Amino acid sequence: MNHLDKLNAAYRNAPEIFQAGRYWKSYEEQIINEVKQADLSELRSGKYPIFTTFGFNDLVYYYHPRMPFYIKFIRQLVRKLFIDNRASLPYSLRLADIREMAYKHSTIQGKLSGASPISSVEASDFGKPQDLFVVGGKKYTMKFLSFYVRYCFAQNHIKLRGDETIVELGSGSGFQVEVLKKLYPKLTILCFDLPSQLYLCEKYLENVFGSEKIVSSEQNIDLSDLSKLEKGKIHLFGNWQFPLLKDFKFDIFWNAASFGEMEPDIVANYLSYVKENCSWIYLMQARNGKESSPEAGVVKPILFQDYNQMLGSNYLLAEEDDAYDAHRRVSQTGGYFQALWQHIK
Ligand SMILES: C[S@@+](CC[C@H](N)C(=O)[O-])C[C@H]1O[C@@H](n2cnc3c(N)ncnc32)[C@H](O)[C@@H]1O
Repeated sequence: MNHLDKLNAAYRNAPEIFQAGRYWKSYEEQIINEVKQADLSELRSGKYPIFTTFGFNDLVYYYHPRMPFYIKFIRQLVRKLFIDNRASLPYSLRLADIREMAYKHSTIQGKLSGASPISSVEASDFGKPQDLFVVGGKKYTMKFLSFYVRYCFAQNHIKLRGDETIVELGSGSGFQVEVLKKLYPKLTILCFDLPSQLYLCEKYLENVFGSEKIVSSEQNIDLSDLSKLEKGKIHLFGNWQFPLLKDFKFDIFWNAASFGEMEPDIVANYLSYVKENCSWIYLMQARNGKESSPEAGVVKPILFQDYNQMLGSNYLLAEEDDAYDAHRRVSQTGGYFQALWQHIK
């Protein structure tokens, strides 16, 4: 069996509570099929729209896969003639202005929070990101800047030393890991995710950091405890391996745009393994819950106050704010919060 098949088989054999909820089940089959045949060197080019659902979204424009070719052609022409090169957006904005403002916003957030500066790192261009630009001789994407801004929010309080252990559930693309690990090369990071997402995340991070910095999910698949965890590396695990964290002490638990897409009992189960084991919890989620209808979306939306309640009285809310990308508020339609809780007992 190859690596991806092994992950999928282990996931299918896992208890029901580790199976995706309704929101993610609806993508499962398509993601599995696309990951199997994807050309990873084009991962971020827009060729695989389904990958944007879990973070490989380095597109300047929203990509409509089923658009008739003539509409696509007209859109491309309009973009070339009026958007890329001319100041046709409100306030005479050009794409370059938006990027410059996003970079400046990131720089300022970095200074305010005492973060390592954005100018000290650059984004990987593996997977041909459609949205790649250069500032001060370094490569960036809007996503890279936005994940930097998330780190700045956390850094306001956490003040990372650089040798911490971070657990991320639902890492998606792995872009947050990329930003953190580039800024702090000695961090130990454990990523947990559904099998296909995890596989792609691993392939991406392997390309960014080299396989010597990665402990593969294939190697970890039969692990029964974390006693031999290699410090300073990125470790990948299937989400069903979360019970490995029982009694494992670490610094930060990180979950972004992920818990909100699960059901409350699934979230409560994950939290039961990390609660009391970590000093900080960072969440970035839909403030009023993700979309839900009788047929689709989540069955029961989770609201901001639900997280606060689930975390219990041993975690004190250090800060909560609307979540921002580098260039805009996250999701103008629904509204996302980002928040940090500190363990107080
Ligand atoms: C919208 S993506 C967000 C990815 C990344 N955190 C980000 O901010 O871009 C949601 C992530 O949650 C993961 N996820 C969804 N349901 C899950 C579950 N039941 N268990 C573990 N991970 C899950 C998905 O696989 C995906 O990686």
